[in-house]
This record gives sequence, structure tokens and C-alpha cells, in this order.
Amino acid sequence: MDITRQHDLRAWRTIALLLFVVGLCACQGDKKPPAGESRPGAAATATSKPAVAEAPGDTAIKAQPPAVPNAAEAKKFSGAKLKYYSESVGVGAELDRVLIKQFNQDTGIEVALIPRPKDATETYSVYQRLFQGQSADIDVLMLDVIWPGAFAQNLLDLREKLGEAAKQHVESIVQNNTVDGKLVAMPWFTDFGLLYYRTDLLEKYGYSKPPETWDELEQMAKKIQDGERASSPNFLGFVWQGKAYEGLTCNALEWIASHGGGAIIEDGKITVNNPGAQKALARAKGWVGTISSAGVTSYEEEDARNTFQGGNAAFMRNWPYAYAAGNADKSPIKGKFGVAPLPHEPGQKSAGAVGGWQLAVSKFSAQKDAAIELVRYLTSPEAQKFRATAGSFIPTVRSVQEDPDVVKSMPFLSRAKDIALVPRPSNSTGARYNEASIAFFQGVSQVLQGKDPKEVLGQVEQRLTRALR
Ligand code: GLC
Repeated sequence: MDITRQHDLRAWRTIALLLFVVGLCACQGDKKPPAGESRPGAAATATSKPAVAEAPGDTAIKAQPPAVPNAAEAKKFSGAKLKYYSESVGVGAELDRVLIKQFNQDTGIEVALIPRPKDATETYSVYQRLFQGQSADIDVLMLDVIWPGAFAQNLLDLREKLGEAAKQHVESIVQNNTVDGKLVAMPWFTDFGLLYYRTDLLEKYGYSKPPETWDELEQMAKKIQDGERASSPNFLGFVWQGKAYEGLTCNALEWIASHGGGAIIEDGKITVNNPGAQKALARAKGWVGTISSAGVTSYEEEDARNTFQGGNAAFMRNWPYAYAAGNADKSPIKGKFGVAPLPHEPGQKSAGAVGGWQLAVSKFSAQKDAAIELVRYLTSPEAQKFRATAGSFIPTVRSVQEDPDVVKSMPFLSRAKDIALVPRPSNSTGARYNEASIAFFQGVSQVLQGKDPKEVLGQVEQRLTRALR
């Protein structure tokens, strides 16, 4: 097993600290694809609107995007045509569309937005195929925080052109994106798992604060669900991401860590099969068909958000982006929900899986210079502030994390100090991370569908041992 890049846990201490600082400042002061969604790979034109899945109340971004700071230089590449594998759903897709329009106006560079598959695991397969074919059909791409090791050999080293700008970003993420000394991607945003809860419903059912333990969550979700079903028969206690894909790896990692069951692979050792992990998975299995629908086993992020934002669930596990969306002008739950750390077992800490995305340039791009300018713009402090305030995407530029407008727009950051931020084991597994994650989430999925946790975790352990040998 390649354990040369083992700074997972250490690396994230820095951001935990930063988020803590941000927090201190804050204290003071059953599924169908969304209509119109196109298949990845079918290039849109620079002017066409990408498919945007809409939850009830989703509205278009009203704020003005920032001008391109480096426009004078970037204009040298005016007329270049780029293909950008971008966000396909929700506020993120809308932000991409708005920012790209500004970029085109200021630089003359044309950008076709190609919505990546909304499931990260599927996105991985699309990239794998494009890179295997050394395709020039992809210039700029969204890269999940767990992928620099896997795709490094296909990505341009950005040190020369963007090395200086990278110094403004959280060091641990820059390190995560540095493979064999090469900066293969620029940090774009970071995130971690959170618990969303309906403040109005908690009050209605006599609760003064969100649940701290998983037992409390179960009791509260059941009581609210039972009560609300009188008038709303499909109302759900708790929605989360239960489909067999990368999102389930994140959810299950949080359940396991908050039951004292560790982080799947630690210091290069496979630790997934332990009593805490068994207990955590047995618990989640119990949610399916009770406080969560049976259909939760096919939920991704946007399914959970659609349900919660539509007013049809009491609790939701999701990433920070759901905060701004839920508070959009026409959202049915605007002003009626709060965000807290996810529950934990008594004596354990809340856990939040560390997520986030980077922007990278393909080595096979025929328009590398123009592509670098697009990455420079989208990851700039100005664009990050815009995305943070309009879409609650946590910035990776340190000064932007401390910006009072940003702090104000993401009040949940003040609770980051209470959360154990748990990275997925992508640094220790490198290019084999995807294989390892698939073994893990397929096992978890089997448990959700009724299998015995202990037996399945034993099998996952064996599969991981073979995969990482
Ligand atoms: C979010 C996270 C990403 C994670 C994905 C899983 O997009 O930012 O890191 O892999 O969710 O669904």
C-alpha cells in the first residue's frame, strides 16, 4: 500500500483551526433526473444555460459577480474556446453560469459549461475515460478533494502560473493538491457534513435545541414525523445520502467516527471492522423505513435538499451549500431552520466528513493558458467571496474566510470547533482511493438493505486488504 502521502488527519488540523477562528469572529459580531438535465459530455455553448435542478424556492443569483482581476493579461487569449466540467445542480451550477458570463465579457475567452454527473463516483468514471483517451475535450475540471492522487498524472502543474496565488489559500488544502511536488489543482471550496433542523417544528413539539446524540435525533425525528403525518402523509423525520456512491462513504464515515469507530483506514491500517462501526451501521439500518423513507437508499445530496427545502422533513444531513439555498427568498423554509453539528454517541464527538472541490487543468488541453486564466478567476478571493455570500460555499482563501460578510453569511461556521473534521483516507490510498471507497460504500449499502453489519464489515475489511495490497 502506498502510505507515502499520509498527512490526512494532520493536514486538516489547520483548517479546523481556521474555521475555529472564523467561528470566534462569528460569535462576536424516489427519483427522476431533474427536468432538462443533459448528459455529461454533451457540450453546451458558452451562452446556453446549463441544466439546474431546482428545489422548491430556488431562485436565480441576484448579486453582481466580480470583475476579472487579471483581465488585461487574460485578454491575450481572447477567442479561445474552453470546455469546463462544472457543477450540474443547484446554486453551484447557477453560480458557475453567472461567473462564466462575466469571465467571457471581461476576457473574450469562451467557455462551454459541461455539467459533470452530479454523483461524484460517476464523475470519477467520466474523467477516467476522458484521460485514458488523452482527450482534448476537457480543459478545466472540478476535482474532488479525494482525487488529486488519482488524477495527478493527467493534470497540469499550476505552480509556475498560480503558485503565488496558492499562497493565499489554506495550506493543508494546497498540500492535499500537491502531488510529487506539483500543484495539480487550485483549492476552490471546502465543506463538511452538518445537521439541518427545522426550528419551527422543534418548537412546535416542545424541543428547545437540536439533538446532541443519535438517540435524541431518533426520538425527536419520530415524534415530529408522527405528528406531521396527520396533515402531511409523506413527511419524513430524517433525510440523508443513502445511495451507493461517494456521498454514502461520507455519511457512513460520520456515523462511524461519532460512534468512536474511527476513520476506515488510519495510519495506513484498515480499522473499519470494529464494535463502534458495527453499532453505527446497525443504527443507520434502523432508520430505513422508519424515520427515513425506504427510498433514502437512493438519495443523493439534492434529493435530501429537495425534500427538506420543500418542508417535508424535520432533519437533514447535508453540506453547507444547502444553507444559502434554504434561505433563498422563495424557499418554503426560509428563516425556519438552523444548522448544528451532526449528533454523536454519548462521550464521543460530532463528526463531519471533509469534502470540497478544486479546479484543475487537463494536461491534454489545447488551450492551457486560457484554461489557467479561468481557474485563476474562479478561485480568486473575489470569486470565492461571491460564492460564499451567494451560495454558502466555504472559501479556501484565508482572508476571505475571515471577511465579515462571509462570516455573517455562514453562521454555522461558529460551531466548527465542536466538530471532529474527518478526512477520507485518500492520501494514504492515493490512486486506489476510489476502489477503497467503492468497497466501503457497497458494504454499507448492503447493511442498509438488511445485511448484518458485523458480517459485512468483515467482508469490507478483506476487500480493502486485497485492494490496497
Ligand atoms: C460533496 C463534497 C465532496 C464529496 C461529495 C460526495 O460534493 O464536497 O467532497 O465527495 O459531496 O457526494
